[in-house]
Amino acid sequence: MMIPRLLAAVLALTSTASAAAAPKPPQSGVGLGCKSEPSAQFLSESKINALAEDSTVEVQAPAPIVVDTYIHIVAAGKDITDGWVSQTVVNAQVAALNKAYAPWNISFKLLGTDWTVNQTWADDLDSMAMKAALRKGTYKTLNIYFQRTIMGGTASGFTYFPMSGPPVKGSYWFNADGAQVQTLTMPGGAPPGWWPMQGMIAVHEIGHWFGLYHTFQGNSCDGAGDMIKDTPQESAPATGCAKPSDSCPSLKGVDPVNNYMDYSGEGCWTQFTKGQAKRMRTNWKIYRKKY
Ligand SMILES: *[C@@H]1O[C@H](CO)[C@@H](O)[C@H](O)[C@H]1NC(C)=O
Ligand SMILES: *[C@@H]1O[C@H](CO)[C@@H](O)[C@H](O)[C@H]1NC(C)=O
Ligand SMILES: [Zn+2]
Repeated sequence: MMIPRLLAAVLALTSTASAAAAPKPPQSGVGLGCKSEPSAQFLSESKINALAEDSTVEVQAPAPIVVDTYIHIVAAGKDITDGWVSQTVVNAQVAALNKAYAPWNISFKLLGTDWTVNQTWADDLDSMAMKAALRKGTYKTLNIYFQRTIMGGTASGFTYFPMSGPPVKGSYWFNADGAQVQTLTMPGGAPPGWWPMQGMIAVHEIGHWFGLYHTFQGNSCDGAGDMIKDTPQESAPATGCAKPSDSCPSLKGVDPVNNYMDYSGEGCWTQFTKGQAKRMRTNWKIYRKKY
């Protein structure tokens, strides 16, 4: 029997980055970390892929990656406080994704948006039933579920990393695939009085969908970290960006607070590195493109 090699990541909203502009934090109990650790299997597989990628991935003028994308708005009712947003907000979210990934020739083509009113699903109390009902496309199709709350309000995003193929359509792990993102993190998705966000949480979550780790993966200055050569090793999630800390002072570089895969937050984030872009291409080729 094939054992799916998965790992899941949860991004908790960190308050620091946007705090200045915030009349009110989107939720209490901020500063929560990842709930799931990558499996040993996925980590070792990543190590092998990382070693092999130089010879398998084109770095000179690579062909653009266009990701077929479906967006599912899952709300408790038809008010913004229920997590109901319009196509305009969805389009702004897709534009934010495309802007962030454009430097690396990755783009997202929105094939469809659907809206579902279901309080159980909106509050993430039966995510597998939700995904089984709503997921579209194949394993290379990105499905993003925008929900009112994620994991009981403890996280603003949750994404399973790619599984070793072949993913069987309709199977548990095929259905589980996709990014779950809190609706108020969409550009224009916050109810009045809540701080306005730019849609960057989805950028981060889709990094996981492409198999990128957090920059602080492993929470240590020793070991493989995120297995990306050009992201400085970081032993803990960053909590701000004005004065980047250096959690691994004996190693090169300060903490990569401007990286989408750190926890510093969208007020700090400006980039994926070249190494991460290359890894996304490697993972796309291995885990998604052919399925
Ligand atoms: C993006 O794709 C174009 C066309 O294939 C290519 O000329 C360019 O070098 C690519 N840019 C990057 C950053 O990969
Ligand atoms: C709402 O969610 C519940 C729980 O998963 C499910 O049983 C029900 O069929 C859903 N209703 C609709 C209309 O989608
Ligand atoms: Zn994350």
